Amino acid sequence: MIDNPSLVEQQLKKNGYLKTPLEKGIHLPSAIQALKKEKNAVLLAHYYQEPEIQELADFLGDSLYLAKKAAEVEADIIVFAGVHFMAETAKIINPTKKVLLPDLKAGCSLADSCPPGDFSEFKKLHPEAVVVTYINCSAEIKALSDIVCTSSNAVQVIESIPKDREIIFAPDKNLGKYLIKETGRPMILWEGACIVHEAFSFDKIIALAKADPEAQFIAHPESESPVLEIAQYIGSTAGLLRYVQEDSSQTYIVATEAGILHEMQKKCPDKKFIPAPVEDDTCACSECAFMKLNTLEKLYNCMVHELPEIHLNKTLIEKARKPIERMLNLGTT
Ligand code: 13P
Ligand code: SF4
Repeated sequence: MIDNPSLVEQQLKKNGYLKTPLEKGIHLPSAIQALKKEKNAVLLAHYYQEPEIQELADFLGDSLYLAKKAAEVEADIIVFAGVHFMAETAKIINPTKKVLLPDLKAGCSLADSCPPGDFSEFKKLHPEAVVVTYINCSAEIKALSDIVCTSSNAVQVIESIPKDREIIFAPDKNLGKYLIKETGRPMILWEGACIVHEAFSFDKIIALAKADPEAQFIAHPESESPVLEIAQYIGSTAGLLRYVQEDSSQTYIVATEAGILHEMQKKCPDKKFIPAPVEDDTCACSECAFMKLNTLEKLYNCMVHELPEIHLNKTLIEKARKPIERMLNLGTT
């Protein structure tokens, strides 16, 4: 452990995590399991995490499932293997717990696309509108919202709003456009997007589907409209996972972050899953670089040192909790 608190502070600021050497010969998965017991900690992991992290999770799921589980945790520590807004959400809905994130720099392009100052000005242009925000946003944006949604329950959340009310939807314009189509409700959209879901290539997906006509094309609603228009099923990560288990096809082209393929393959060992092709052949663009900042080593170190920890001030927690609770109280699945 680094004894000097200001050195710790400096390292966390610079790297987003603490760099300390590992004991020789350590088996990280067993060491992490032991730490969970020793520290009375619960590990929540999103489907976009590396498979070895998913395998260690006490709860593995999509954003909605993980938010619900975070609210129920009775253990002392919540370790969130996901991105910053997810760990923040856990802290907001269960504020007495210590919430840890293996790498503080695990952010999100959607959350980054919506700075609170700009959003506050945008809201002033539509003072009568109900503000619905996708959970992929900062605590400050949640505090400026009336109700939060995830991709699993967004349609139900929009449908819960009286028909005569104007709606602002932020920050994802792609999910927003999809929701306008699904619900028939006009909405004022914030122009944010997910770098991973915008990277898919429409032309290459078409070519792949032509080469394998039996393959079903399925997509996450953060994808762009032309991609969604050719999808045979659109859903959240949990929705996509459910679909491939219930559907009778053998092959799927999957347009979402490639981490979900691990659980799909586990649930359906005899089926074939192909990550949807991206525009740029030189990058691993169907992987979220933010999600993939978390590694087994960082997860282990974060549990040993109980750092980095998510801190939020009390007033912000109180303001941001209300729109999350409104969503949870709708009882959506
Ligand atoms: P869901 O897990 O809610 O489908 O969201 C996907 C996502 O992009 C999380 O960042
Ligand atoms: Fe954010 Fe997109 Fe990564 Fe999800 S996949 S965390 S929306 S950048």
